[in-house]
Amino acid sequence: MKILSGIQPSGQLHIGNYFGMMRPMIKNMDRGELYAFIVNFHAMTSVHDAERLSRDTLHAAADFLALGLDPERCIFWVQSDVPEVTELTWIFSTLTPMGLLERCHSYKDKLAKGIAPSHGLFSYPVLMAADILLYQAEIIPVGKDQKQHVEVARDIAAKFNHTFGETFVLPEPEIDDSVATVPGIDGQKMSKSYGNTIPIFCDEKELKKRVMAIVTDSTPVESPKDPDKCNLFAIFKLFAPPDRLAEVRDLYVNGGAAYGKIKLELYEILLEYFRAAREERARILADPGELRRILRQGAEKARAKAAATLDLVRQRVGLRY
Ligand code: ADP
Ligand code: TRP
Repeated sequence: MKILSGIQPSGQLHIGNYFGMMRPMIKNMDRGELYAFIVNFHAMTSVHDAERLSRDTLHAAADFLALGLDPERCIFWVQSDVPEVTELTWIFSTLTPMGLLERCHSYKDKLAKGIAPSHGLFSYPVLMAADILLYQAEIIPVGKDQKQHVEVARDIAAKFNHTFGETFVLPEPEIDDSVATVPGIDGQKMSKSYGNTIPIFCDEKELKKRVMAIVTDSTPVESPKDPDKCNLFAIFKLFAPPDRLAEVRDLYVNGGAAYGKIKLELYEILLEYFRAAREERARILADPGELRRILRQGAEKARAKAAATLDLVRQRVGLRY
């Protein structure tokens, strides 16, 4: 079974990315053939700063490895090192109905946030379909916000198969319901573009500031509160050991939950939870030459797979003459 997912190098990795995508991918290393990559072409829909894009590409790769991805047990590369994906994107563009893209929530949300509606932003799901189908991937672990994009990839695959003959397998999103949408410090979906994240690898002072800024209501400490309606509890729940979680839930239900104390405890837990990864990341980034070598090696493997699919596609559509 082929499992594939990618992450944009467009800002600091946060706990939503970790639970929604990175952790499921890392857990999948021995389940099948795993494809993990850094989607720098996609990041160009929001980043037009060469220095930042190139730095964040290496950082995103280091994040993945530091959190436990083993490049020997998967194919790990940077999207633009396999330029075949842009050719497949064009071929898919000629088949993709405008209406399919116009319906995408992610595009509409980004417009609502004031992001300039470039052609690349609009056709973002077509590039993502090419990412997935170029490797004939079957399972796509993502957070809930990406479900629709995987469905677009399915629709494009079906349309291609119908038009040119059976070529692509239809991919399926795989979403862990318990962490499908991790809330941000303001209670909306945690997202780099909402400025409401808890980054995993920022410095300790910044981490503490973010945790202390988690929005809570003004119910007094002694009053009972509903833990399932509290944003702080939703985040605490992701990290606290089960015994401690049960105690804190009790404090919410029976009174005595002090938000400030719980936030401090969460901060300490977070530091400990990612301590080893933080050290590993620093070690990886101290040797960017080695990191580039790992990525180039991954790109070679990915390219060989991509070339086989593209060869078949060219034949199917009539680009061979
Ligand atoms: P962001 O919204 O912060 O820009 P990305 O679009 O780069 O995040 O998402 C990378 C991966 O992380 C995707 O699989 C996405 O579904 C997942 N993800 C992002 N935010 C969350 C969240 N708040 N909860 C769960 N998964 C998330
Ligand atoms: N669009 C995804 C996101 O923003 C990233 C992505 C690009 C992706 N290509 C992909 C995810 C292919 C899964 C499979 O998170």
